[in-house]
Amino acid sequence: MKTRIEELRARFNEALGAAADSAALENLRVEYLGKKGHVAALMQGLRDVSDKREAGQLINSLKTEVETAIAEAGEALRAAAVAARIRSAKKYNPTLRGAEELGSYHPITLATREVEEVFISMGFTIENYDEIVDDYKCFEALNIPKHHPARDMQDTYYLDNGQLLKTHTSAAQNHIMKKYGAPLRAIFPGRCFRNESTDACHENTFFQMEGMMIDENISISNLIYFMKTMLSEVFKRDVKVRLRPGFFPFVEPGFELDINCEICGGAGCPSCKNSGWLELCPCGMIHPNVLSEGGIDTEKYSGFAFGLGLTRLAMMKYGVKDIRDFNSGSLKALSQFKSI
Ligand code: DAH
Repeated sequence: MKTRIEELRARFNEALGAAADSAALENLRVEYLGKKGHVAALMQGLRDVSDKREAGQLINSLKTEVETAIAEAGEALRAAAVAARIRSAKKYNPTLRGAEELGSYHPITLATREVEEVFISMGFTIENYDEIVDDYKCFEALNIPKHHPARDMQDTYYLDNGQLLKTHTSAAQNHIMKKYGAPLRAIFPGRCFRNESTDACHENTFFQMEGMMIDENISISNLIYFMKTMLSEVFKRDVKVRLRPGFFPFVEPGFELDINCEICGGAGCPSCKNSGWLELCPCGMIHPNVLSEGGIDTEKYSGFAFGLGLTRLAMMKYGVKDIRDFNSGSLKALSQFKSI
């Protein structure tokens, strides 16, 4: 019995050394430890042995040896497979850092930040406001009752619950007046939506920056001063502008502030609807109805508001001819504007 056990141990060790994969290991396990395997056969042979105790111990230690060796070999195979997978994986090369193209800010983000800087330096706070608003915020609080013809200009996307995607940043005016009361100076940039067909100068999704200044004795001269300062700071040169009367139910008087088209120099092109001018920043003195709806004492306070077309500003500042490029997702087109 002893020699038979020694012989099996030697054979096992040899076979184990040759087992190259988990299938070979499993075969070995069945051959030695299976129901009809060598260990079971040895157990049966015990019947004919005189010193059963010693032989039994020898068989048991062979059995444990085989079990442990197979388990360890299995572990080693698994570890080797993981190591091989890591070796064959694409390697991270730290020396390539900076060699690949870095990302960049979207031109609208750049333009927004620049305008924000100017207004921060003039004591304005920056506010963030929702994109989904209700009819009251977007229209009624702005002196645009239901069925007012001004609504025709601002069709948008409606949600099943009656809320809508805001058509202009003016939709935050009421909220901000109620939040801060008078006096206040705030700008609130945001994404706006209109249900309209697109062309070189119209998009259904675009950015505006609204601003409001409310205090005692605010007049049109204050409005003009702030608009001029903002434009000269942003463009860093003199740009031709014109102010003409414009109708918006939430201001009285209201103005259109146009900028000379920077794409064609005023000659007329698709970006400016061939007029040579681009409506950039409609503005006006806040209508008393809008002020009182926001809880402001109209006897004491007055104010101006403006709705800067941020997307249009970015077009003019960076010479982007087609407004649709901004939402195109084209990295080639959008990653050219790296400065801040
Ligand atoms: N909300 C207007 C629009 O998108 C723009 C506007 C006009 C905003 C006059 C104002 C303003 O604050 O005073 O068409």
